[in-house]
Amino acid sequence: MISFKLTLLSTIIFSSAAIAQHTSLRSGEQWPDNNGVHVNAHGGGMLYQKGTYYWFGEHKISGRGGNAAQVGVHCYSSKDLYNWKDEGIAFQVDTVNANSEVAKGCVIERPKVVYNKKTGKYVMWFHLELKGKGYEAARAAVAVSDKVTGPYKYLHSFRPNAGKWPLNASASDTTEVAGGDASIANRPGNELAENGFFLRRDHKGGQMSRDMTIFQDDDGKAYLIGSAEENYTLNISELTPDYTNVTGKWTRIFPGGHNEAPALLKKDGKYFLITSGCTGWDPNAARSAVANTIWGPWKSLGNPCIGDDAHLTFHSQSTYIFPVAGKKDAFIFMADRWTPRNPIDGRYIWLPVQFEQEKPVLKWMDNWTLDFFNEKTAPKTATGK
Ligand code: DGJ
Repeated sequence: MISFKLTLLSTIIFSSAAIAQHTSLRSGEQWPDNNGVHVNAHGGGMLYQKGTYYWFGEHKISGRGGNAAQVGVHCYSSKDLYNWKDEGIAFQVDTVNANSEVAKGCVIERPKVVYNKKTGKYVMWFHLELKGKGYEAARAAVAVSDKVTGPYKYLHSFRPNAGKWPLNASASDTTEVAGGDASIANRPGNELAENGFFLRRDHKGGQMSRDMTIFQDDDGKAYLIGSAEENYTLNISELTPDYTNVTGKWTRIFPGGHNEAPALLKKDGKYFLITSGCTGWDPNAARSAVANTIWGPWKSLGNPCIGDDAHLTFHSQSTYIFPVAGKKDAFIFMADRWTPRNPIDGRYIWLPVQFEQEKPVLKWMDNWTLDFFNEKTAPKTATGK
C-alpha cells in the first residue's frame, strides 16, 4: 500500500514537472520547450497568426562548428509567449545533394517568415552562405510553404538589386573615382562605403546580403533589410507583391556605419530601427534610428540600451522586434546571447521596447510578464539590473 502511494506520488510529481507551465519571460536562462528541451531557434523572428505566435530560428548543434546549418530552420509555437511547443524543422537543409545551395553544412542565419495574403503562402527569407565558402556568398534566400510550420520548399538565393542603383544614389556614387576604383581599393572599408566603391563594385552582380530581417508594413508591402558592402552599409529593398523577390526599388542607409542585426518596428507612423555594430559573435553597443518613411532619411538616435551592460546590449545582439497582439504600442525586442563554443546553448534576451522622448529604450529585466505593457511603470515582478 505504502509503495503504491509512493508510486502514485512520484507519478504526480513527475507529470507535473513534465508539464510545468512558464509564467514569465526570463532572459538569459534556458527556455525549455514542451519537451523540456531548450528552445533551438537562434537569430530568430516571429510570426503571429490567428492567436498563435510562431518563432522561427536557426537550429544549432553542440560544439565548435555548431553554427553551420546541419539541420535547418526550427519552428516553435505559443499562445502566450511563455510556453513553446516544438513544431519541428520548418526548413530542412539538403542532405542528399551536396551541390545544393542549401546543402547540409551551409550557413543559414536569421530566418524570418511572413504571410502573403494575396498568394496564401508563407514566405521564409534567410541569410545564406554556401558550404565551404565562409561568408563570401552573402546571399538572401527564399523558401515557401502552404502551411505555417512547413515544410518550406527552397526557391532561390541571390544578391539583391543586380543592375539597379539605389533611390538615394548620388552622381558620384555611380561614377568611378578619377584614376579608377582600383586605385582606392586598399582604403579603409568605411571610406570605401562612403565613397560608393562597394556599391559600384557589386552593381552588376547584386549587392551583398548578410545579417537581415524582413519587415511587413501595414499597407501589405514588405521589405528586406540587410547588411551589404562588407557589412559597412545597410540596404532596404522592397519585396515583390508575392514576397519572393525584390522589385529593384531600394535604398542604402548609413554607408560606412558598420551595422548588423537589423530589427524594425513601426509606431505612430514612424519607423524605428535597432541594429548592432560588427564584432562577430561578441556583443557590442546597439544603435537605433528613426525615419518618417521606410525610404528615409534615417536619423540616428544612438544606443537604445540604458543601465548596466548597456554598452554590450546586455550581452546580446538584436534579431527581431514584434508587436504583442491585442496590446497597444507593445513591442518585444528579441536578441541572441551567442555562445559560439557551444552554439546550441545560445540564450534569448527578450525585453519590452519602451519609448522615452520618442526614442526606443531598452532596460534590462530578467523576469517579466506581458502585464508590463498594461502598466505605466515597471511591474513589481520585474527585477531591474
Ligand atoms: C555577427 C552576425 O550578426 C551573426 O548573424 C553572424 O553572422 C556572426 N556575425 C558570424 O560571425
